[in-house]
Amino acid sequence: MVKKSKKKTIKNKKAKYIAKRTNKRVIKEGFVTYDVSVKLPEKKILSYISDKPYFNKDNFVLYHGDSLKILEQLPENSIDMVFADPPYNLSNGGFTVHAGRRVSVNKGEWDKSKGVDSDYEFHLKWLAACRRVLKKNGTLWVSGTYHSIYQCGYAIQSLGYHILNDIAWFKPTASPNLSCRYFTASHETLIWARKDKEGKHTFNYDDMKHKTWSDDFFKNENKQMRSVWHIPEGESVWVSHTPIREEKIFGKHPTQKPLTLLNRIVLASTKEGDVVLDPFTGSSTTGLSAAQNNRKFIGIDMEEKYLELSKLRFNNLNKKLI
Ligand SMILES: C[S@@+](CC[C@H](N)C(=O)[O-])C[C@H]1O[C@@H](n2cnc3c(N)ncnc32)[C@H](O)[C@@H]1O
Repeated sequence: MVKKSKKKTIKNKKAKYIAKRTNKRVIKEGFVTYDVSVKLPEKKILSYISDKPYFNKDNFVLYHGDSLKILEQLPENSIDMVFADPPYNLSNGGFTVHAGRRVSVNKGEWDKSKGVDSDYEFHLKWLAACRRVLKKNGTLWVSGTYHSIYQCGYAIQSLGYHILNDIAWFKPTASPNLSCRYFTASHETLIWARKDKEGKHTFNYDDMKHKTWSDDFFKNENKQMRSVWHIPEGESVWVSHTPIREEKIFGKHPTQKPLTLLNRIVLASTKEGDVVLDPFTGSSTTGLSAAQNNRKFIGIDMEEKYLELSKLRFNNLNKKLI
């Protein structure tokens, strides 16, 4: 018995000696030594998902279905950044003004509130699913208005994310308030959080400070970018408050985000080659920005018509890039 353990110690000492001499990182399993400094080819993330992609071209992948069902198939720690524009739960029979006319605020069944508790439970579930798939250094963006953002914020904190910023996205041309009994809502909030307090998240500080973000009147040249963003209408790559006409030529999603907003987010918080995921992809503005900026993209939506719109938008972008 004593003889055997002595033999083991000698072998382990030998492995440690070889590792020191060759400067290699080794792990030992019994008497077998593995060199872990040699990287084995990684299994592709999509190979874990049994559902067939709805669309898959040039690192732009769409899935049709409930995002919880797709997210649970993804491996842990596989995504660099999540951008989520979840239902705001504001489609409850109200009215607003659009182009001088009174119009319903209803966006679709998916945007109806099911009551505070059910809405919170929904946000908690998808936020937990996103946290599981995010890499240790990964970050999450969530957009919303007061109808949903406080629930999301509380869930984000409860789940152990660490909030980095809340951005006020100022909308100077927001619809007037019809009741005239309270202020005109003129901003959306974006929460930016990292998976883990200890995570070393990506923030492209210099680009945010020194690039030209013309027409954002909160941004002074070569000064740090603030947490209040003005994304005015316009044709420039870096500006636009609502999606410009060109972004709607294939039809539009009722809550389509401007491409320039997503460009700012993608360029601030990811690197080329990173994997970006949007669990509520809609018309895939996030995906278009990812593709334009050489990032990989996975988008999920339960409505086929929005995935069709996403496909058209992506194919058109691809034509333009060639
Ligand atoms: C606010 S919109 C996103 C719009 C998108 N940011 C854009 O620029 O087009 C939310 C989307 O989430 C989808 N959705 C809602 N619940 C979902 C769920 N459980 N799973 C997958 N998609 C869902 C809706 O169909 C809708 O297209």
